[in-house]
Amino acid sequence: MDRNLQRKTILNALPFFQNIKNALTAGGTGGLTWHLHAALSKKQWLRTQDQIQAHLYKGLEMWTRTHLEEGRSLAQLESTRELVLIGASAGWMMSTPWLEEFTSIDAYDIDPLAPILFKLNHGKALQQKKIAVRFHNLDAIDQLDRVLNRHPRALIWFDNVLGQHRIRLKDSELASAQLKILQRRLQGRFWGSVHDLYSGPVLGAVEDQISKSTKTLSTKSAEVIRLDNSDQDSARVRFNGVETNLGQARQQFLHNLGATPAGGAWLDHETSKVFPQGTQLIWTGWDFKPSYCHCLEMGWWDGGMVG
Ligand SMILES: C[S@@+](CC[C@H](N)C(=O)[O-])C[C@H]1O[C@@H](n2cnc3c(N)ncnc32)[C@H](O)[C@@H]1O
Repeated sequence: MDRNLQRKTILNALPFFQNIKNALTAGGTGGLTWHLHAALSKKQWLRTQDQIQAHLYKGLEMWTRTHLEEGRSLAQLESTRELVLIGASAGWMMSTPWLEEFTSIDAYDIDPLAPILFKLNHGKALQQKKIAVRFHNLDAIDQLDRVLNRHPRALIWFDNVLGQHRIRLKDSELASAQLKILQRRLQGRFWGSVHDLYSGPVLGAVEDQISKSTKTLSTKSAEVIRLDNSDQDSARVRFNGVETNLGQARQQFLHNLGATPAGGAWLDHETSKVFPQGTQLIWTGWDFKPSYCHCLEMGWWDGGMVG
């Protein structure tokens, strides 16, 4: 091994060095760069944040209904609601009222700055409600089995982290393989996620396009259900009630978001097979930066057997 590579390998193995790297960029997925961008984009991200909040409440209703059907009382449920947040960061896009629905929160992130900033964003309200919040500095995707064992009754929410996996691993094939088996690792658990599906350049902000055109917000969001388990673009999906294939649904949706003709420049985040077949999904456009949009996917899985 050459000396430079040797030095790099030794440095990377030191927890102190890892912590500094994670505080700066978390392998391109977070850290200071994310915090600064998120803090400055609060206003532009409000519409997306509201959509995420609505989706979070939908999950909580599903979770409550599922447990009531199992014969537990509402009072029992409300006094034992545990949440595991993976990729919590500072919770820039997280809803404080939704967090207040839980009795305890275990937040996992590799970024050492996450606990301080999360407390600044949500701490006061959670403290007033006496909600226990614990932070864990851990790679919760690699160590998912350990996380699930530690919190056997908790609802699991992946908070915009799975789409970053390929960026952090710098290996799209490995990330794709690991993301595809996630649904099996989560077998029997009630879980949900919001993650990047695709991202790339657009003609203008989704927000501006909505206000300028007669098009409504609904063209910038879509209801999607995957109908088979194929890995290919030919996978059957129901897109806004119409059966088509994944490739065509993606093309139409990215076009609706204002993808430029050089649409090939869009990044595939390798998350299109995160959710089991049959999950009701929402796709929505998120104005991440001026003229740069992320297509987010959101969904919940109720813990049923994965086919
Ligand atoms: C895009 S940011 C998430 C944003 C966050 N949910 C919010 O609203 O502020 C992705 C976060 O995931 C964290 N992360 C990335 N990979 C992780 C992993 N394997 N385990 C735990 N956290 C991870 C990053 O440190 C970063 O804070």
